[in-house]
Amino acid sequence: MLSTLSSLSGRSLSRSTLYENIKTGLFVYILLRQTLKAKRHIQARGLFTTISEIHRWISQEVVLLVLRLPSAKAKVEEEMGKAKLDIENQLVPKGPNVVRHLYLPQEGQSLEWILAEMDKMDQEKDGADWRHGRISGAVYHGGDDIEKIIVAAYQRYCVSNPLHPDIFPAVRKMEAEIVAMCLRMYNNLDGAGTMTSGGTESIIMSMKTHRDWAREVKGVTEPEIIIPSSAHAAFDKGGAYLGIKVHTIPVDPITRKVNLKHVKRAINSNTIMLVGSTINFPDGNQDDIVGLGALAARYKVGLHVDCCLGSFIVPFLEKAGLAGGNVQGKYKLEPFDFRVKGVTAISCDTHKYGFSPKGTSVVMYRDAELRRHQYYVLPDWSGGVYASPSLSGSRPGALIAGTWAAMQYMGDKGYLESCRSIVTCARTIAERITTSIDELYILGSPPASVVAFASSHPQGTINVSIAAVQSFVGRSAK
Ligand SMILES: *Cc1c(COP(=O)(O)O)cnc(C)c1O
Ligand SMILES: *[C@@H]1O[C@H](CO)[C@@H](O)[C@H](O)[C@H]1NC(C)=O
Repeated sequence: MLSTLSSLSGRSLSRSTLYENIKTGLFVYILLRQTLKAKRHIQARGLFTTISEIHRWISQEVVLLVLRLPSAKAKVEEEMGKAKLDIENQLVPKGPNVVRHLYLPQEGQSLEWILAEMDKMDQEKDGADWRHGRISGAVYHGGDDIEKIIVAAYQRYCVSNPLHPDIFPAVRKMEAEIVAMCLRMYNNLDGAGTMTSGGTESIIMSMKTHRDWAREVKGVTEPEIIIPSSAHAAFDKGGAYLGIKVHTIPVDPITRKVNLKHVKRAINSNTIMLVGSTINFPDGNQDDIVGLGALAARYKVGLHVDCCLGSFIVPFLEKAGLAGGNVQGKYKLEPFDFRVKGVTAISCDTHKYGFSPKGTSVVMYRDAELRRHQYYVLPDWSGGVYASPSLSGSRPGALIAGTWAAMQYMGDKGYLESCRSIVTCARTIAERITTSIDELYILGSPPASVVAFASSHPQGTINVSIAAVQSFVGRSAK
């Protein structure tokens, strides 16, 4: 009896110690993991930034909490309502003569009616006058001639869809040729790529490709990328979509290039890809791609060079004789394409300075082996074998045809001329601001088509009337 009792209690005792040990082990494991995560985070962002991030997060939560109070809620809703109305009034045409078409017409309308209605819509609200070169960063058009070419190509391939290459082989061929032409422009004859719907998709696909590559080759399950603060928002969007952590590294205030020391510190075993731009959207500067490439090669991670905006401008600078910059060595272009060691992917928007129809871009990889990680295949789908290269399933073959047509129409010479005239204009603006407006200075040393300026006043106030700048820029642009 006694012995049974003692053996019983002994067994339950050892069971409870086992339980305790597992609990402790689990606790230590979680603690270690979280500590490692925190260490990497702080290493990547710096202690100061981490603290200010936490501060910002707490403030945000407090504000959200306060806003949930009934008294605050009513007030906020009232203000939001006003703001919404304001935006609506700005964007949506309104007035007694505006007819809104909110349900399907009983009978189909004629082409004449449709065009007349579009005429009305265009007149109802003053759009900006983009045809005369007064809009920057929004409209890229190659003139009236190219519009005709694109429309003709579109019409011909209106219903085509590269999802079915057996039915539309011409579209499939044109896509492959567009990618091949872009690869040649960016100096990679052994590379591979695909077309996408725009720069954002090219970037997101490249992130996905590097994520899946790193998972297969390096076993990375919690991927991170490192981007300059001047990188396009598409990288943050991709991070949010794909579950990739994004470390944003500040740029040098003078050169506007990403701080390489800081990038190096942020690299850890979860890093899948670094990012540099040629050129960036905010101020048109170029990151040190050679430096980033060296880091990428050394740590065996990818390097995506965002040439979405540089597209059909930066590859032509050398031939246009503009890559060397001016006599003071300003506006010089540094190496940025596949000739740079470490570069694994480049995005190039045909729908920007390629003057092709909106909704087209190209993502390129160093080789087909890397591109493989972009593809999605479902061999046993109930609807048949399903395979697609990028985010979309069905894709507009007409846009591919339009892009192919635009590139054939422009040719090497056409793009060279467009590069020369656009970049010369940008440099004229930069030079004139530098030499004749003391209150302003040019940010960094932009090598291509974008110039940005800031106030040279220490407090950052701009004491030049906007009208003066507009008339000045208008004059230079002509
Ligand atoms: C325009 C742009 C993108 C993204 O382009 P979308 O075509 O608008 O999706 C990405 N990077 C840079 C530098 C850009 O200028
Ligand atoms: C800005 O211009 C006004 C009028 O020309 C002048 O009075 C003022 O001192 C200027 N401010 C700065 C900061 O230069």
